[in-house]
Amino acid sequence: MAIPLVDLQAQHRNISDDVNAVVADIMQRAQFILGPEEELFEEEFAAYCGAKHCIGVASGTEALHLALRAVGVGLGDEVITVANTFVATGYAIAYTGATPVFVDVDPTDYNIDVNLLEAAITPRTKAIAPVHLYGQPARMAEITELAAKHGLRVIQDACQAHGATYRDERLGALGDAACYSFYPSKNLGAYGDGGAIVTNDDELDQQLRLLRNYGQRAKNDYVRLGYNSRLDTLQAAILLVKLRRLDEGNERRREIARLYGELLADGPVQLPVERDDARHVYHLYIVQHAERDRLAQHLNEQGVGNGIHYPTPLPHIPLFHGTRQVPDGVPVAAGLCERILSLPMYPELTDDQVRQVAEAVASFATVPAVS
Ligand SMILES: Cc1ncc(COP(=O)(O)O)c(C=O)c1O
Repeated sequence: MAIPLVDLQAQHRNISDDVNAVVADIMQRAQFILGPEEELFEEEFAAYCGAKHCIGVASGTEALHLALRAVGVGLGDEVITVANTFVATGYAIAYTGATPVFVDVDPTDYNIDVNLLEAAITPRTKAIAPVHLYGQPARMAEITELAAKHGLRVIQDACQAHGATYRDERLGALGDAACYSFYPSKNLGAYGDGGAIVTNDDELDQQLRLLRNYGQRAKNDYVRLGYNSRLDTLQAAILLVKLRRLDEGNERRREIARLYGELLADGPVQLPVERDDARHVYHLYIVQHAERDRLAQHLNEQGVGNGIHYPTPLPHIPLFHGTRQVPDGVPVAAGLCERILSLPMYPELTDDQVRQVAEAVASFATVPAVS
C-alpha cells in the first residue's frame, strides 16, 4: 500500500462526527463572520500559546503581513529573516514595502544562524522575523537579546510550530508576536485557509483587530487602511475541535520521529537533530542525502510519498534578486536545498507504515548508481 507524505483523509475519519456537528450548527445559525466560535478559539489558542491575545486572520501569510504592519514596518525598512523557509515569509515582508534580508541557516537545526545576525543589521533594519522551521524553535534567546540591543521588533514565523516549546516555554510570549498558519496540513490545520497572531502586547492586539477588519473601530468608523483578513467562524469552530487533540498529535509525531531515528540510525540518510533547549513538534521530518533526487525517485517507485521543503533558498528566487543580499551569500541553505527530503509525517501514520518507509529508505543503499 502506498504511503502518502500527509494523509488528511485519515485525520478526518477520526474526527468527522465532531467536525460535522459544529459545521451543521453554524450553517443553521448562519453566523459565518466573526461569530462566537471565532472569539472562543482566540481565547483558547492564546491560552494554549501562553499569550494574552490571539487575533484570528485569513492565513499564515496574512498573520505575518499584518503583524509586520502593526509594528510599523513599511517602505524603506529592512526585515531580517532566513534563507530556507516557505516563500510566504519573504512575501509578507515585501507586502509591507520593506526589503527582506535573507540570512543563512545553521547546518544542525536548519534555523537562522544567530552568529550571522548582527552583521546583517543596518540603520534601516526594523525587525527580525525568525522562522521555527519544520517545527523546531529558532534560538530565541540570542535573537531577542540582539533585537533589544538594536531596538528591533521580533515577529516570529511559527507557521510550522504549533505547540513547540523553547526552554520549556510556548512561543506566544517570546518576541513581539508569533504568527501561525492553519493551512490544512499543519499540525493544527483548518479545512481551508486560516491563520492567527498571538501576542502579549495590548497595542499590537488593538492594531491587528483594526487591520484584519477594514480598519474599523466600530461599524462604519474607519480609522486606518485595513484589510479583509478574518478567520471564518466555520474554520474557527473546526480548529476548536482540533486544538483539543493538538498535544496528542504532536506527541505521536515525536514518537514517529523517535522510531525513524532508531530504524535509520545506521544510514543511509542524515537524520534531524533536536536541540536540548527546544521541543520539536516535527511538522516535517527532514532527512539529507547527497543523491537526494535519486532517493526521491526510489521512494516514489516504492510507493512512499516525499517532498522537498524547500528546493531554492529565497534570495536565489528571481523575484528576490533585487533585495539586499548578505555579503557571504547563503551557502549552507543552498547546500541543504540540494540534499533535503521530507518523509511521511502525520499522527495517523502507524508503526508498520513507519517501518515500511524506513525499509524503503534503507534499501536505497543497495540501489546501484546510474553511470
Ligand atoms: C514557514 C511558513 N511561513 C508562512 C506560511 C504561510 O502560511 P499560509 O499558507 O497559511 O498563508 C507557511 C505555510 O504555508 C509556512 O510553512
